[in-house]
Amino acid sequence: MKRLNWGLIGGGEGSQIGPAHRLGAQADGNFTLAAGALDVDAARGKAYAERLGISSDRAYGDWKEMLAGEKGRVDRVDLVTVATPNSTHFDITKAFLEAGFNVLCEKPMTMTVEEGEEIVRVAEATGKICAVNYCYSAYPMVREMRHMVTSGTLGKTRLIVTNFSHGHHGNAAEADNPRVRWRYDPAMAGISGQFADCGIHAMHMASFIAGDEVETLSADFASTIASRSLEDDAMVNFRMANGTVGRLWTSSVAIGRQHGFDIQVFGEEGGLRWTSEQPNQVLYTPLGGRTQIIEKGEAGLSDEAARLSRVAIAHPEGFPLAVANIYVDLAAAIRGEAAGALPLAADGLRSMAVVHAAVASAGQNGAWVDARPPMFR
Ligand code: NAI
Repeated sequence: MKRLNWGLIGGGEGSQIGPAHRLGAQADGNFTLAAGALDVDAARGKAYAERLGISSDRAYGDWKEMLAGEKGRVDRVDLVTVATPNSTHFDITKAFLEAGFNVLCEKPMTMTVEEGEEIVRVAEATGKICAVNYCYSAYPMVREMRHMVTSGTLGKTRLIVTNFSHGHHGNAAEADNPRVRWRYDPAMAGISGQFADCGIHAMHMASFIAGDEVETLSADFASTIASRSLEDDAMVNFRMANGTVGRLWTSSVAIGRQHGFDIQVFGEEGGLRWTSEQPNQVLYTPLGGRTQIIEKGEAGLSDEAARLSRVAIAHPEGFPLAVANIYVDLAAAIRGEAAGALPLAADGLRSMAVVHAAVASAGQNGAWVDARPPMFR
């Protein structure tokens, strides 16, 4: 199978998410890193791109130069990943879609609901793929949970409880550290801090596993470190379209919690539990029965989970391979093959509507509000 050409924007040297994209995109031989505008500093970005093996004529100073340079090439990139800070996602994603490129955008896809709707419209009009990197949904055992829930193993889903709570911004003495401060600065982060950063992963996961959408929510936001103008802790109650009750806690001041992402699904006939720190296992408890451990790589998994398990049972697979699974599905979609359950622009838009609804609710003492984007009401 011919390799696809891949371009990366952002994800420069020392960035948090860049290595996961580079490992993920290239893990299965589907993509070659052919072009990049990797850094906000043009010279640093070009130098790093060349060290990563990108030819000098495709090591660009910024994304506009990359768009102009790639547009006219016969070997133009088949996919562009946008791994820059949030406020730049909309402009870059829109421009590349309009020029006929497929895009994988980091979360949050946009800053506003209106921008999210615009991306959905542009993706539809151009027929190009616009995926969003909700990479936790690509762990094999999360796909197994989705299969179990949507095929009825638990009966009707009553309740979803999820947390994405860590303690890495819990040191008040470090609140002014520039690497931490921007996440709570509305000019840099937008209208929400911790909920838009981590809570949306948990919210997406609830919808993904249930095969259902968030309809209404009530939120309580808190800035537990007084100098922060955006929330560092949030509790969100929600209801899904088919009546499932949701509870979501996200925090960055939960000292002692490390990654801190977990999700439990409770149905009429059983319950499931998954945690990001033990991602190769799902705990399943049938009504009236004992708790069982379902392992990645074991016999009898759903096709979707088996397809994305790389190495044998009990050999750990982790975060970069979950990102790689997003690229497996992207490569399939670009080649016109069945593409699994790839998170798309509509999912990115739903997240933005949820973030804005949560901010509105928190500002009205937790009033219940509609959490759907106007386009999908
Ligand atoms: P970071 O601050 O560690 O790195 C950002 C990188 O982008 C740097 O290399 C910087 O030089 C570069 N950059 C900034 N502006 C640019 C521009 N205009 N053009 C080209 N390069 C530019 O940020 P981090 O943590 O890697 O986050 C990047 C994005 O990835 C954010 O939107 C974040 O929400 C998302 N993210 C997603 C995760 C996931 O699990 N899906 C995990 C971590 C981050």
